[in-house]
Amino acid sequence: MIKVSEYNKFLSYKKNKLFFEDLPLINLGEKFNTPLFCYSVSQIEHNLEELHNAFKKVKPLICYALKANFNSNIIKILTKRGCGIDVVSNGELQKSLKIGVDNKKIVFSGVGKTSKEIEIAIKKNIKQINVESIEELDEITSICKKINKTINICLRVNPDINAQTHEKISTGRSEDKFGISDKRVFEIFKKYQTNKFVKIIGLSIHIGSQIELIEPFYKAFKKIKLQILKLKKKGFKVSSLDLGGGVGIKYNDKNKILDIKSYARIIDELFSDLDLEIIIEPGRYLVGSSGIILSRVIRTKSGNNKDFVIIDAGMDNLIRPALYGAEHKILPVKKKNQTNLNVYDIVGPICESSDVFIKKMKIHRLKAEDLIVICSTGAYGSCMASKYNLREPAKEIFIKKKKIILSDN
Ligand SMILES: Cc1ncc(COP(=O)(O)O)c(C=O)c1O
Repeated sequence: MIKVSEYNKFLSYKKNKLFFEDLPLINLGEKFNTPLFCYSVSQIEHNLEELHNAFKKVKPLICYALKANFNSNIIKILTKRGCGIDVVSNGELQKSLKIGVDNKKIVFSGVGKTSKEIEIAIKKNIKQINVESIEELDEITSICKKINKTINICLRVNPDINAQTHEKISTGRSEDKFGISDKRVFEIFKKYQTNKFVKIIGLSIHIGSQIELIEPFYKAFKKIKLQILKLKKKGFKVSSLDLGGGVGIKYNDKNKILDIKSYARIIDELFSDLDLEIIIEPGRYLVGSSGIILSRVIRTKSGNNKDFVIIDAGMDNLIRPALYGAEHKILPVKKKNQTNLNVYDIVGPICESSDVFIKKMKIHRLKAEDLIVICSTGAYGSCMASKYNLREPAKEIFIKKKKIILSDN
């Protein structure tokens, strides 16, 4: 028995028809071209509320990691409810400012900020830059001098902790390109102690994404706490700590999900007595579960020893399966007779063998024009879409109860 609400609380079967919020997905399939990204506004609101409520002592500033999904509607939904934004490029910064995000709630992260991007961010008086290297810090200092402005800095520390997530989204091991060795932190604080332009106010950390276990978070947070205590003991003022993002979500029946309460509990336990502003930068957790892709079967195909279902969504819409071997839950929009089951590889139409969503999926027999849904596509879906094979880009719509909100993205 599939518990579809585990993927999205606003996804449910009623009389064998799949509903999203209060709309039958069959109707959306008639009204719109597929593939179609659909987002549940209620699910985004729910995710944010659940995260807020999980904290009992610390009240973190939640800076949504815009890289997860840069759709304007998402920025509006989250910032209206008090969130800041974590940006990693001038494009993301400009988009946030244009929508009206408070510049004092914008954090600029990223390992390869250009000097032009740094200068713009400083001129826009953003909250802080999270710096990834000594070389970057030197460059920021020269830019500040040149334009006679100051900026708050958090040093992104690489704690050399394995997040035990997918190799390609692990960022906190010493061999990863991110962050500054924790061995250099003290020397940098000392060097910049009296600098007129660059004010080092704290540390930041981000050990990876789609983290399903609490232990790596605990180890990394404990390490950074010790670092802060040492800095304070040596007389340095540390007023800010950015703990990054990384909380994993449910993609399929096999993956574990992290209990958000235990994540918040360790932050409460470790940092509530340190007199720090705590920032977190969740991306996937806030929006991942909110999105689905509605897709249509183009045709089925009998191979030599297996059957395929070729759908109209492909790796140009959702690259996660091809890039990370990710398996997203797939559901039929209309549930049919469960006695007539078949085993299929569900594949996209793109001319790449890696354009496969699921291998060996057991489902009732499918035919051309049947609609299916790919779950958990709200994060790192549309924002990673490509023009590969020059197909028409998929539209994005937002749904709240029965209302459809069209999106220009
Ligand atoms: C610096 C930083 N912060 C936050 C995030 C958001 O991560 P997630 O979407 O896993 O919460 C990322 C993404 O990897 C990141 O690089």
